[in-house]
This record gives sequence, structure tokens and C-alpha cells, in this order.
Amino acid sequence: VADAAVWTRLLEQARWAPSPHNIQPWRVRPRSATAADLLYDPARLLPDTDPTGFFTQVGFGIFLEALDVAAAAHGLEVEVAPVAWRLDATAAGLPLLARLRLAPRTRPEPLDASLLERRRTSRLRYDGEPVDAATLEACRAIAAAAGQSWTATSDPEAVAWTLRLNRDTLFYDMADAAARGEVGRWIRTTPAEERRHRDGLSARCLGFPGWLLRLFFRHHRLMEWPGLRQAIRMRYDRSMRGTRTVAWLTGRFDGPADAVAAGRMLGRLWLTLTARGVGLHPFGSIITNPRAYARLRERMAGGDPQARTWLIMRLGRSAEPPRSLRREAAEVLA
Ligand SMILES: Cc1cc2nc3c(=O)[nH]c(=O)nc-3n(C[C@H](O)[C@H](O)[C@H](O)COP(=O)(O)O)c2cc1C
Repeated sequence: VADAAVWTRLLEQARWAPSPHNIQPWRVRPRSATAADLLYDPARLLPDTDPTGFFTQVGFGIFLEALDVAAAAHGLEVEVAPVAWRLDATAAGLPLLARLRLAPRTRPEPLDASLLERRRTSRLRYDGEPVDAATLEACRAIAAAAGQSWTATSDPEAVAWTLRLNRDTLFYDMADAAARGEVGRWIRTTPAEERRHRDGLSARCLGFPGWLLRLFFRHHRLMEWPGLRQAIRMRYDRSMRGTRTVAWLTGRFDGPADAVAAGRMLGRLWLTLTARGVGLHPFGSIITNPRAYARLRERMAGGDPQARTWLIMRLGRSAEPPRSLRREAAEVLA
């Protein structure tokens, strides 16, 4: 369809948006050159590890922001009319989330569309330097513009505590059969498997050998060997070397619309870090794993009870991370 051409062009860039476990739950059905429906694929949700769907909605928020940044390069903006932000893994077909409309751009866009393809998750070791004050201030301003609060620290004790909690979370998630099964379905342990799916978490991007991931997810009982657990811990600690800064986002996160708004902000924040050459590694599972989240809450006790810490992350400069794959724009089109 000729009408799909402009949407295909936007998707070529927006499809690089990050989503939890790289599930890429989005589909776009063009209606005309200026209108399209945003749909979701119920088979690409995380009912066990993201039962409220909020984290997946964060992904949709990032995706919408990516579409808008891509549209800006064409002098356009994407207007979003939500239909229902509810996600249901048991739904049939491709349910409608929102109607999208392309309109002439009225707001300036400081972010260059080329950042969409450059942005990555950096799970590599960082350079041992705290993130500079100007970058942290840029993040604070982006969060504040969305009514969220951003806190960063380079306190060595706080950094070490956070890295340890994230390491423990790996084992908490793996001890839970439902979580292990769900994450395991998105693990790509060989290059062929990765190329076939073009989604999920590849051994290459996680920086873990495929055989070790296979043991971890598919032969979990072997993990009861203390030697193997210790080897995994050591590998994790090595990959976290040089981390001097951690940060967290706090604010409204009470429903799917909040999560989409939070995601749009996170998308801008991540692209801004990319422009500044600073890598980001979200520790989303600290939030989604109940046991890890309880430890985080306990540590943060005393803060505003209304405000929710909904993402914690490490950030810093690293070598260029491997690029995780995406489905083609033609596969995103519905
Ligand atoms: C809301 C959200 C939570 C995430 N949580 C984690 C996490 O806990 N651990 C992790 O290693 N990556 C996490 N990621 C990173 C995704 O796995 C990553 O974005 C995806 O695999 C695509 O890779 P890319 O960002 O390099 O393009 C998260 C991403 C999002 C959007």
C-alpha cells in the first residue's frame, strides 16, 4: 500500500526501541498516509514476570517516543489517541492500544533520529569514572519535565549495594519456575537461534556463553552446585567492573497510562545519554521481582510513600555494546 510507505520509513528507525527482554510487542496497522493503529501482539507479553503489564507499557512509551523522534526528521509529529492501554496475554488477534496520527510538527525536537539506531543497553564493564555532573543534570531535567524525579549517586557503598542486589535478583528470578520459564522463552543461546527470531535476549548481548545460559534456564537443577553459582557470580561481578554511578527514577507509576508516560520520558533520557556517549543498563528485574523489590523498598524506607521507584539502573562509559537484533519493519506492520 502506498499509504504504508511513510509508516514503514518511521518504523525502520522506531523498531530499534528497547523493550523488556527485547520482546518487541508492538504492531502498526497503517490506515492512510497520516493515520495508523497501534496494536499489540498478545503472544509477545510477559504475564508471569510483568503481571501488571506496566513494564511492557514502559516499552510502548519508549516506542511511541521513538516514532515521534523519527517523525521529527520529516517535519512531522505523532499524535496519540489512546483507546485502552490494557494488555491481555489471552486476547485473540492484535488488540488496539491507540490511534496514531501524523501532523505537521509544532514542537522542536533536539534529539537526532540517528540516535535511535545508535542507542543500546550497555552490559559491559564501564571506565571507572563517575558520570559527569552535566549529564546527570540533563537526565534530571528530562525526568522533571515529565513530573518524575531522578536521583543519581556515585557513593561507592550505594553502587556496590545496587550491583549486589541486581546479582541476587538473577538467582531470585531463576529460583522461580514461572519466571525461569518465561525468561527462558526469550533466551537465544546460539547465533542461528538469534537470527531466526530477531528478538529476545541473545547470549552475545548478555555477554554470557550460550552453553551457560542453556544450563541456567534449561537444566536449572545443576545450578544447585555451589561451584557453578559461584562461577556465575564471578562472571557477573567482572562484567560490572568500573561502574561508579547508579541512578533511579521515582514518581507516578500507578497504572498503564502512567507507565506509558514514564516510558516516553525514559526513551528521551536514554537517547540523551547516547548523544553524550554514556551507556545505560536498566536493572528492571529488581523492580519486577517481588523479593528484590522488597529489599529495595526497605533500603529506601522513609521516602515519600506516594512516590514509587520504578526503575533502577547503572550508567557509565563503555566500549560499544553489541547490537541486539530487531524484527524487520515489514514484520511490525499489520
Ligand atoms: C523497561 C525495561 C526494563 C529492562 N530491564 C532490564 C534488566 O533488568 N536487565 C537487563 O540486562 N536489561 C534490561 N533491559 C534492557 C533490554 O533487555 C534491552 O533493551 C533489549 O534487550 C534490547 O536491547 P538494546 O537496548 O541493546 O537495543 C530493560 C529494558 C527496558 C525497556
